[in-house]
Amino acid sequence: MTTERVSIHGQWSSRLAFILAATGSAVGLGNIWKFPYIAGENGGGAFVLVYLMCIAVIGIPIMMAEVMLGRRGRQSPINTMRTLASEEGVSRHWQWLGWAGVLAGFLILSYYSVIAGWALAYVFRAGSGLFTGQTADGIQSIFTSLTSDPERLLAWHTLFMVMTMVVVARGVRSGLETAVRLLMPALFVLLLVLVGYAWNSGAFEQGIEFLFTPDFSKITADGVLIAMGHAFFTLSLGMGAIMVYGSYLPDNASIAKTSIAVSLMDTLVALLAGMAIFPIVFANGLEPGLGAGLIFTTLPIAFGHMDGGAFFGMLFFILLVFAAWTSAISLIEPAVAWMVENMGLNRIHASVLAGVVTWLVGLLTVFSFNIWSDVTPLSGIPIFHDKTIFDLLDYLTANIMLPLGGLLIAVFAAWQMRKSSSADELAMGEGFFYTLWRFLVRYITPLAVVIVFLHVIDII
Ligand code: PFF
Repeated sequence: MTTERVSIHGQWSSRLAFILAATGSAVGLGNIWKFPYIAGENGGGAFVLVYLMCIAVIGIPIMMAEVMLGRRGRQSPINTMRTLASEEGVSRHWQWLGWAGVLAGFLILSYYSVIAGWALAYVFRAGSGLFTGQTADGIQSIFTSLTSDPERLLAWHTLFMVMTMVVVARGVRSGLETAVRLLMPALFVLLLVLVGYAWNSGAFEQGIEFLFTPDFSKITADGVLIAMGHAFFTLSLGMGAIMVYGSYLPDNASIAKTSIAVSLMDTLVALLAGMAIFPIVFANGLEPGLGAGLIFTTLPIAFGHMDGGAFFGMLFFILLVFAAWTSAISLIEPAVAWMVENMGLNRIHASVLAGVVTWLVGLLTVFSFNIWSDVTPLSGIPIFHDKTIFDLLDYLTANIMLPLGGLLIAVFAAWQMRKSSSADELAMGEGFFYTLWRFLVRYITPLAVVIVFLHVIDII
């Protein structure tokens, strides 16, 4: 670690604090809301296997690359890329990678906040005992009555954006660190309780079989792209979130160990969520491919029938909100860090500005569940034919922008950067593990992303 740079935004208090913050960023709606529903829509086991492989051979190495770049640059991703590119003597255009990340962050947060708003709304629905004794149909209509009401969605989206901006405005230590320390372990325990409930729901085996028995006839090229995109999404990779968190990492922390720890925890939470949800789906004769409403229409059935369900239900949705919250702040941090560095704004003003822009873009998602639910802007293009604006935002960001960002990060870290620089920053010697990392980032990630892209557009 030869660089003497210090981040103007502060630093995590320890390696553990970074692990918690990065885990807070990684574990979010992606694990608990999105993973089960896309696994359900794409046939289960085979999809899960592809996803796990992507985490291992693409996700972990790219996370290491992002943290490495971030810590070496010690600035917002835009300025980090500019500085490192000039240090390595390569094109200044690499800063565009930082810009693309900022754009992806805005777009993702715009819909992320609306879904987190559903979770907020469900805190109160669960707590009031609304789910008690309800049938699957009753639970479904509670969900529909929420999503079909734009004003209510807007109110919850607004509340969530305000919550996010308050934490971001407070800065790296006092805002982000404190929130994650307590909440992540609590979420984990509650998921275990739900898996315990699912165990007794009558269809545990069927749920497990659906998740873990690969049937490759059920997966398409698009399914593989979704699995790969989700590996990036769930680990917060490809847009600079982990890079900016890496820029606050103390010099002596091991990048490899922290990245592996974060990835393992993230994967565990996703699998636990799947194991809690699918047994309930099958026990109630529901369809695994229910789509974005899956957890909101399945878990409440469980809460409605268990002892203390109102309490546990409320607790679960509170924790889901917290998981989303600690991810949301990382989605906007690259933009806020850049505004502080380059526009001379303080964190409060930068946060408000970023928040207002995201809130406005979020209106697109709010309306795509009700008054614009029939609007499918790119219906002329086969892979987008029936996608609403929300579906498009999700698809374009998670499945295209993040893998593309990841690909470029890989190219920069393993082709543009000198070997001595990456070896120095990763500080793991130049033995087997470093060689393996560099091989994966140099060849496997770029190839995998390109091959999957080409497959989807039917070129190969
Ligand atoms: N990883 C988060 C989740 O799984 O919910 C979402 C996310 C956060 C994606 C930050 C991208 C990102 F940069």
